[in-house]
Amino acid sequence: MKPLIKFENVGKIYRTGDVEYEALHDVNLTIDEGELVVILGPSGAGKSTLLNMLGGLDSATSGTITFGEKEVTALNDYELGKFRAVEVGIIFQFYNLIPTLTALENVALMEELGIDIMDPMEALRLVDLERVANNFPPQMSGGQQQRVSIARAVAKRPRLLLCDEPTGALDTKTGKEVMELLQKQSRKEHITVVMVTHNNAFADLADKVILVKNGTVTDIVINENPKTADEIAW
Ligand SMILES: Nc1ncnc2c1ncn2[C@@H]1O[C@H](COP(=O)(O)OP(=O)(O)OP(=O)(O)O)[C@@H](O)[C@H]1O
Ligand SMILES: [Mg+2]
Repeated sequence: MKPLIKFENVGKIYRTGDVEYEALHDVNLTIDEGELVVILGPSGAGKSTLLNMLGGLDSATSGTITFGEKEVTALNDYELGKFRAVEVGIIFQFYNLIPTLTALENVALMEELGIDIMDPMEALRLVDLERVANNFPPQMSGGQQQRVSIARAVAKRPRLLLCDEPTGALDTKTGKEVMELLQKQSRKEHITVVMVTHNNAFADLADKVILVKNGTVTDIVINENPKTADEIAW
């Protein structure tokens, strides 16, 4: 498999006034193209910090990060912003939709930001939401809102899709549907998906599981036979 992202001795220190906090220490890992990766670990372990650095949402304090042929850690702020806009789709726990725009407008918004995307209705079709295209977020269920945010993220055909607790606010059944959708997108469109979760059951879905504890990667497990969302117990 072709590597997409490589971390070499990556560290992250947050500075708040005079206080320093080492959120990540000496992280080495590789993520391959088309892989579904799950990041597991207790609260405060550094999972979101790691996810943010995978997508260039935050910069590393030390070490080297490469994405394809690009050395992300060598980019300036402008180049980093452009890299994120083109290559990375992001899905959050609480959807982050704009409540005053319809589902369709939330997806189409990317175009107005100058990002090249597929037809917004086509993106909604991928997540089976054409029916509620003209609904505003408060008129949709949590699962539907999360699917809109998936449509928005995949509309630009990113090479990397990052998800931070994508099912954290959903019930079991809806969460399962969202996981199925993410796994399908990863397989079908060959998008690399990296997901942070508290739910250990999701580890069975992944091609690779990265375990994080106290700011260090304690283990990386390769899963030869990942399960599908409807095969796992919650
Ligand atoms: N912007 C920041 N400034 C200072 N410290 C931060 C900042 N962001 C995170 N931290 C600290 O870094 C550590 C790791 O945070 P991170 O958000 O990556 O944890 P996490 O594993 O995602 O936790 P959770 O499961 O609760 O979301 C925490 O101790 C947190 O307090
Ligand atoms: Mg987090």
